[in-house]
Amino acid sequence: MSRQRAPKSNLHRLIGRDALARGVRALGREISQDYADRSPRLIGVLKGAWIFIADLVRAIEVPVTVDFLSVASYGYATNSCGEVRIVQDLDAPIKGLDVLVIEDILDTGRTVTFLKEVLNARRPRSLRVAALLDKASRRILRVEADYVGFKIPNRFVVGYGLDCAERYRQLPEIFVMGNPPSR
Ligand code: IMP
Ligand code: MG
Repeated sequence: MSRQRAPKSNLHRLIGRDALARGVRALGREISQDYADRSPRLIGVLKGAWIFIADLVRAIEVPVTVDFLSVASYGYATNSCGEVRIVQDLDAPIKGLDVLVIEDILDTGRTVTFLKEVLNARRPRSLRVAALLDKASRRILRVEADYVGFKIPNRFVVGYGLDCAERYRQLPEIFVMGNPPSR
């Protein structure tokens, strides 16, 4: 089988395969402990969280069920502007369930704030958020994730499910676009 083509030269690796795998395993352990006697409903936020949730469920040892919803914020490329909306809703109600929202990245906080509001209104037993990446310096709304894989600098990242105008989701590692990250 041929190796995957090298990504374009304006992409610079920020989080490699091994670090990603270790981070996801650590999250899985933490979640498994916290939900020891529970069976949470994981809600993957499409499309960005699709690869993350696929790896994360396999690192969680308690029984889970999985559902998805899809959100969009108006504006496309590297800036999410104000408004968030549900493009595709959950298959099933979440009333009375322990819900864990799985996000790719927490940036301004608008998406997670919106989702918490919408999902809390459906009366889950509990509602927490796991985000693979946290760009804390970009926060506009005061909201945090209960589980964070990696805190990252204020740079636009792609790969491992994250896109730029729908490209690069397939890259197996996280890359920053533009200048190399400062270490
Ligand atoms: P927020 O609503 O500003 O917190 O942004 C959340 C959403 O914007 C994420 O779920 C991503 O879909 C997208 N996003 C934010 N930053 C990045 C990035 O660096 N790369 C790719 N997508 C991003
Ligand atoms: Mg997203």
